[in-house]
Amino acid sequence: MSLIDDLVKLEEEAKELVAGADDAAKLEAARVELLGRKGRITGLMRMMGKLAPEDRPVMGKRANEMRQLIEGMLDERTTEMKAAALKHALEREAVDITLPGIRPQIGHQHLIKQIIEEAEDIFCGIGYTVESGPMVETSYYNFTALNAPMDHPSRSARDTFYVVDNNPGSVAHPEAHAHGESDVLLRTQTSGVQIHTMESQKPPIYMICPGTVYRPDTADACHLPQFNQIEGLVVDEGITFGDLKGTLDYFVKCMFGEDRKTRYRPHFFPFTEPSCEVDVSCHVCGGKGCNFCKHSGWIEILGCGMVDPNVLINCGIDPEKYTGFAFGIGAERVAALRYDLPDLRTLMTGDMRFLNQF
Ligand code: DAH
Repeated sequence: MSLIDDLVKLEEEAKELVAGADDAAKLEAARVELLGRKGRITGLMRMMGKLAPEDRPVMGKRANEMRQLIEGMLDERTTEMKAAALKHALEREAVDITLPGIRPQIGHQHLIKQIIEEAEDIFCGIGYTVESGPMVETSYYNFTALNAPMDHPSRSARDTFYVVDNNPGSVAHPEAHAHGESDVLLRTQTSGVQIHTMESQKPPIYMICPGTVYRPDTADACHLPQFNQIEGLVVDEGITFGDLKGTLDYFVKCMFGEDRKTRYRPHFFPFTEPSCEVDVSCHVCGGKGCNFCKHSGWIEILGCGMVDPNVLINCGIDPEKYTGFAFGIGAERVAALRYDLPDLRTLMTGDMRFLNQF
């Protein structure tokens, strides 16, 4: 009965074939090989014709049993493989809930905005209001009402971005300006907001105005064509230079710390008389002199002075009754001084490696 032997051998081979199939494609190939139309079982069945008629039913039964056995093996292997795949997927996709999550990156305020808000907090704490004004101004608010003479060099197109310049070369032809104040420009200073405030409010006035200003300067380590100022204006009865010094000393100590010294240097501004520039002692060298402070031991951060009576008159305020002081702080200078920034351009370039430090 060599057919019986064949069947026994087939069972062994089938076991090996099925056990060796380690993916769905190989298992399917095994199924075709064993049970397919040209497969091994079919081959055996075909041979049955050569058997004696009485042997055929026995062999037929054995062959059918073998078919079922092999089908069972294949099913079992399929189930095994599915279970293994599931186990693998579960392991691979397992979530370790004890690991810390991924924090979404949230932005934060730009350094300059932080400085401005800190200045607002300092001044609001001593009773000031926060005002704002237009960045596109007429020359009346940016210059004339601030007592700047028609031939003041800052009016020239080299120092001011004109949007509408009705008088190109205005410095060369100052008289042409007198015909009207229709020049429109990007404000070069926040001082114009002093005028807007005095036109719309009556003294006592205690205000600051932070804002962006523009000048046709080429950007370098200490200059930007667009930067921020924090303007201040006080108008009240009996305001003296002592009030100005006390206020600005208080601001400097809040902003930079108790150990900082201030120095008031006489200067000229058209809208204040007397006027000064205020320097703060250099932090990098402690006042001894270094590259950062250009070896002077001091860094200039603001201009200030007593409001010129002409400016009060321009706004309909009686200079016999009221006096005042004003100041303009450079926000970028404050930032540079506080954090020893060697180059102001880093504030504009948007490099997150720099900005994220603050
Ligand atoms: N506007 C001046 C500037 O841009 C700064 C300044 C100086 C503002 C003196 C003032 C002041 O209010 O009193 O250079």
